[in-house]
Amino acid sequence: MIDQFILKEYNDFRGDASLHTMCPAPSMNLHFSQLGIVTACCFNRTQVMGVYPKNSLEEIWRSDVANKMREELQSGHFPSGCEKCREQIISRDFGGSHANFYSQQAKHFAVKRAQENVSDESINFPMKLEFNIHNNCNLQCVMCHGLASSSIRLHREGLPAMPNPYDEAFVEQLKPFLPYVVETDFMGGEPFMIGAYQRIWEAISEVNPKIKTCILTNATILNDSIKTLLERFNCWIHISIDSFKKTTYEKIRRGASFEKVMENAAYFNVLMKSRGLNLVWRYCPMRLNWEEIPETVSYCTEEGIKLFFNQVDSPIHLSLTTLPVDELQKVVETLKAQEPVLPASPLATENLRNYRELIHRLSGYLEQENRSNALHSRLQASEAVVNQYTSERENSLNKRNKSDALNEQFSHVFRGYFINRLNIEQAHQTNTKVDESALKVLSTSQKLVLEKTQDIPFEHFLEVYLKELVRVVSGIWGVTKVHDRSIFGIIDEFISRISPSDVLAKKEIMELSLLKTYEETAFVKSAEDLDVWLEDVKQLT
Ligand SMILES: C[S@@+](CC[C@H](N)C(=O)[O-])C[C@H]1O[C@@H](n2cnc3c(N)ncnc32)[C@H](O)[C@@H]1O
Ligand code: SF4
Repeated sequence: MIDQFILKEYNDFRGDASLHTMCPAPSMNLHFSQLGIVTACCFNRTQVMGVYPKNSLEEIWRSDVANKMREELQSGHFPSGCEKCREQIISRDFGGSHANFYSQQAKHFAVKRAQENVSDESINFPMKLEFNIHNNCNLQCVMCHGLASSSIRLHREGLPAMPNPYDEAFVEQLKPFLPYVVETDFMGGEPFMIGAYQRIWEAISEVNPKIKTCILTNATILNDSIKTLLERFNCWIHISIDSFKKTTYEKIRRGASFEKVMENAAYFNVLMKSRGLNLVWRYCPMRLNWEEIPETVSYCTEEGIKLFFNQVDSPIHLSLTTLPVDELQKVVETLKAQEPVLPASPLATENLRNYRELIHRLSGYLEQENRSNALHSRLQASEAVVNQYTSERENSLNKRNKSDALNEQFSHVFRGYFINRLNIEQAHQTNTKVDESALKVLSTSQKLVLEKTQDIPFEHFLEVYLKELVRVVSGIWGVTKVHDRSIFGIIDEFISRISPSDVLAKKEIMELSLLKTYEETAFVKSAEDLDVWLEDVKQLT
C-alpha cells in the first residue's frame, strides 16, 4: 500500500483526473503488442488481458484479468507488473508516471466523447488503442533492442524474424470498437514499414476519421502513397530525433541519413501546421546527447515543434539515471543553469515544462532510496521481458536449426542471469544500495542456470553462454560499438571443435567478468581467435 501522505500528494497532483483509481489504463486502453499479446499499457507485461487470435477483442476487453486489474487499482493497490508506476509515485515522480499520463488522458477523452455526442454505449468500450504489434524496422539505434527492431534482431542478435498474428480478421474485429475510440497510438518497429498499420489506418479513415491517430516514426520513410493516406484521417505525427546535429544523430540512429530525416521532418511539420497541430519530437535523453538538450529546446520552440522526453532506464550504460551520483549531479546542475530563455508562447511554456520535468525526474535519481527502487523495478521488468521474449522465440523454433532449437530450451535462464548481474554489478559500481532481496534475485537466477544446464554437455553450455552474452550486453548494457552478426557462425564453428581437454567447470565460466568476456569474444574474426580466448581462460581458472 502506498504511504497515505504520498497518495494524497499524488491525488492533489492529478486533481480531478484522479478518477477514484490509482490508474485508469485497464478501464480505457488496450495495448496490442507482438505475438498477439494484449495488456493495459506498454509497461505491464505480466497481466495479459488476452492473446489474439486465441481470444477475440471482445473477450479480451471484458476478460477477468482486465476486471481484476480495474478493481485492484480502484481499491488503491498497484497490481503486479505495475512496479514502474508504483516506484515513480513512491519517489514523487508523479509527472513522469504512466499512471498519471493515463489519468490525464481519461479525463480529457471523456470530455471529448461527451462533446462529440458519442452514444451512451461508449462507456462499454475503450477510449484508446495502442499498437505496438510488429518490429519491422530499418534502423539499429544504439539504445534499442530486437523486440522493437527487426534489423537489430537479425544483425545484433542473430535471430530469425518473429511471427505476427495480426491479420485481416483482426482489422474486422477492430471496426466495431472504432466509433467509440478517441485516440490511437502507432509505434513499432517503424510504422511506415508495417503492412497491418496501413490496413488499420484504412479502417480508421472509413469508420471514424476523427480519431486522433498518433504515429511515432523514425521519419526515414516518406513517399507519395504515405502522403495520400495521411490526408484521409486525423493523424498526429511524432518523430523520434535524439539530436539535431548530424554527427550525434547518426551515432545514435544507426542506418539513418540525417539530411533525409530533416527533409521528411520539414514535410511533417508543414502538414501538422496545416491541421492546427504541432509536430512532436520525441527525444531519448542519454549520456551521448544530454549536453545538447537546452539547444534542442530552443530549436524546437523556434520551429513550432513540441519536444517530449522519453524515459531511458535501459540500456544501463547509456541511461542518465544510472550515472554515479556525482556525475548525475553535474548533469542536473548544468541543465538547470542552462535553461533556455525563450520568447513567451504557449509552446515555449510547454517545452520548458517538459524540460523542467526531465530535470526533476533526473534529480530523483540522486536519492539513494529511489536508485534502489529503480534497480528493483529493472530486475522485475527483466523477468517479464525475458519471459515474453522466450515465448516469442519458442514460437519461432520451426525456423531455427536443430542446435539452436535445443539451446532455446534454456537460453532464457542465461538471459535472466546476465540481465540481473549486469544491473547489480552496475549498481555496486555506482554506490547504489543493493539490498538482500536484489542479491537474492541474482543468486536465484545463477542457481537456475546451473540447475537447468546440469545435464547438458559443456560445449552446449558454452555455446548458449556466449551467444546470449553477445545478445544481452548490447541490448541491456548498451554499447556504441556493436558486434557483427557473423559472430554467431564463428561461435558455432568454435563449439564444433571443442575437445574433452577443453572442458571446464560451468561455475568457472559463470564467474568470468561479463563485460570483459563480451569485449574479448564479440569482435573476434575467426574460431581460432576463440580457441585462444579459451586457452587464456583455462590458464586463469
Ligand atoms: C521503439 S521506437 C518505435 C517507433 C519508431 N521506430 C521510432 O523510432 O520512433 C519507439 C520509441 O522508443 C524510443 N526508444 C528506443 N529505445 C529506447 C530506450 N532504450 N528507452 C526509452 N525509449 C527508447 C524511440 O526513440 C522511440 O521514440
Ligand atoms: S527506429 Fe525505432 S524501432 Fe527502429 S531501431 Fe530506432 S528506436 Fe528502435
